[in-house]
Amino acid sequence: MNRFRRLRASGALRRMVQETHINKSDLIYPIFVAEGKNIKKPVDSMPGVYQYSVDTLDEVLDATAESGISGLLIFGIPAHKDELASSAYDDSGVTQQAIRYIKGKYPDMIVIADVCLCEYTSHGHCGVICDGKILNDETLPLLSKMSVSLAKAGADIIAPSDMMDGRVAAIRKALDENGFSGTPILSYSAKFASGYYSPFRDAAESSPAFGDRKTYQMDCANGREALREIADDIEEGADMVMVKPALAYLDVLKAARERFDLPIAAYNVSGEYSMVKAAAQNGWIDEKRIVMENLTAIKRAGADIIITYHALDAAKWLEEEK
Ligand code: PBG
Ligand code: ZN
Repeated sequence: MNRFRRLRASGALRRMVQETHINKSDLIYPIFVAEGKNIKKPVDSMPGVYQYSVDTLDEVLDATAESGISGLLIFGIPAHKDELASSAYDDSGVTQQAIRYIKGKYPDMIVIADVCLCEYTSHGHCGVICDGKILNDETLPLLSKMSVSLAKAGADIIAPSDMMDGRVAAIRKALDENGFSGTPILSYSAKFASGYYSPFRDAAESSPAFGDRKTYQMDCANGREALREIADDIEEGADMVMVKPALAYLDVLKAARERFDLPIAAYNVSGEYSMVKAAAQNGWIDEKRIVMENLTAIKRAGADIIITYHALDAAKWLEEEK
């Protein structure tokens, strides 16, 4: 008889044979920076998450630096929104200001800049609109301009999340032509049209004013198509790829891990976070235990990098376990 229980007999034995480990350096913490002064506005649907203005960012920057995680993913919330998302590629826009501030204070902290127009457009869609249609090729120059502007501000990694076709090639070309051939692209390659994003849209004030994102984001039913999306982004020059959301798509993550050899990120998105927080606040689950189990599952499925709103808590818990 196989006695699997032999190696489970003590904490020391279990630690010795543990297959999957989460490192603090695997983790990236998303933050929301709003234009204005003296803002620390709670996001109701995401307990523990706030919109900050640049002048109140220190609190979260210091916590991030102390935590030992790798860095931040930054989302800007501009005061001015228009049809063409002009604040997105304004060199003095809120996101650019925030990146300059963060890199000035913490030069070693990795700052990943999300590239998408939806926080900056008056209609809340991720692309340019004409006659009610979201246009693909007309959106690419704007994403390219935005990427160059964010790289100029000091972003370490450019992360396009819009799901327009051909954007990685367009952004790579624009970065190269503007002196940023050394700036890597982390592409949100397999990003599904998901109900799990709704708390984020409260946080980022980026809900579409009409319709949904199903003509550009992927159908949740399509695992094979996700691998085609990833292969295509790699061909276009992505340095890293992402699967998003994470927990309902671990099969996609695992398949991507088996097929591709570049670093893979998984985004443990807002809805996944909010569900855990809500259940924990009701006393229905043990928050720490569930968070560590979820993050371990994402790692076990094959993620090298985990973007999560739990990052600072998880780092604290990992430290306590030492
Ligand atoms: C912007 C973007 C979204 C998320 C990351 N970048 C929302 C969306 O596509 O509507 C979702 C992140 C989350 O839910 O935590 N395109
Ligand atoms: Zn978007």
